[in-house]
Amino acid sequence: MDLKENGRHCETAVVDDEPTAGVAGSATEELCARAPVGLLAELTHRCPLQCGYCSNPLELERVNKELSTETWVSVMSQAGAMGILQVHLSGGEPTARKDLEEIVAAASKAGLYSNLITAAVLLNRQRLEGLAARGLDHVQISFQDTDAANAERIGAYPGAQKKKLEVAAWVKELGLPLTVNAPIHRQNIHNVGRYIELALELGAQRLEIAHVQYYGWAYVNRAALIPTYDQTIQSIELVERERERLKGVLTIDMVVPDYYAKRPKPCMGGWGKGFLNITPSGKVLPCHAAETIPGLVFDNVQDRPLLDIWLNSQAFNAFRGTDWMKEPCRSCAFKEIDFGGCRCQAMAITGDARNTDPACALSPYHGEMVAMARSEAALPPTPIVYRNPRNAPGAAKPAARPMAMADS
Ligand code: SF4
Ligand code: FES
Repeated sequence: MDLKENGRHCETAVVDDEPTAGVAGSATEELCARAPVGLLAELTHRCPLQCGYCSNPLELERVNKELSTETWVSVMSQAGAMGILQVHLSGGEPTARKDLEEIVAAASKAGLYSNLITAAVLLNRQRLEGLAARGLDHVQISFQDTDAANAERIGAYPGAQKKKLEVAAWVKELGLPLTVNAPIHRQNIHNVGRYIELALELGAQRLEIAHVQYYGWAYVNRAALIPTYDQTIQSIELVERERERLKGVLTIDMVVPDYYAKRPKPCMGGWGKGFLNITPSGKVLPCHAAETIPGLVFDNVQDRPLLDIWLNSQAFNAFRGTDWMKEPCRSCAFKEIDFGGCRCQAMAITGDARNTDPACALSPYHGEMVAMARSEAALPPTPIVYRNPRNAPGAAKPAARPMAMADS
């Protein structure tokens, strides 16, 4: 069956010429409405950089566990058939995969809008041309800072800045849209204004000012990375002024750090609502940090069709909707708007993923979380634990311990 709904191409009843497990043809319309918008494909955890703000898990998946080319090609085909619109090719560093060209071609064939999220240091012009020729739609390049020396210290990769600037220029020459990604923390927050200038100089369509979210390696490095309240507010005000000034010239998106917020972010747009994440070994996750939540069972694309996992797997249904909520979310007017915030942050800070995200002022843990953020930000930054396999086992934990667990 083939139908269009909300501009999506939905062939939800059939995948690879076989009826999809658990899906009746009559349910097609409902499935289209419930199809995810985006897929984050973590093609590999290999990466030449070692940024301490990385949201990858501490246990990085090894190269011998990575999915084959054929499986990624099948994933792209399944994703297009189930109505997914965009695929973000990420990692680690996705260009470390020699078969990236075949994966991009499969995404294009499946009708997916493909976005390459890259540190850019492994690319050469010929490879970028090849990716564009196979249908790559968009390139997003991360800059660790605007100051080359500080950027190369943060990423632990000498010479990275010059290479990134070179690749950004090629992206423009090839006519591909460019996003500059700016991961912001206390070690580069003084350069937010300079990031805006950089994006303009490079002719980027979009700048993503992404205050670091504290998952994975970033959680370990929180005391090295968390900015002060005043720094955070100043950076937000600067971006808001510049957004107004640059309307129609540069789109500036901003992810704010919610440790100082009063309301939480609707993480992933709601659990199992619009996005899914596939790890290098094929585990399908509702978000990139979901493996930090005990008791969830993650199915693998090698064992089960993607659509079946999306609709029926234990992990995706664990926090779908609002039935799982405890108070104060359960009786709150915002529960369908922010979905109680982030399950992984609730887990990390309170020890229970069903608790209200402590970024919410109504959470009983909120005051403690804000105090913890302020006290960590007031101290000199701790040394960065660089993201590499050597640092993974028994890696240092953040200074503050998780708060005592209590039912809310
Ligand atoms: Fe959102 Fe829950 Fe806070 Fe209400 S109590 S604003 S639903 S996180
Ligand atoms: Fe997992 Fe927010 S990162 S729900």
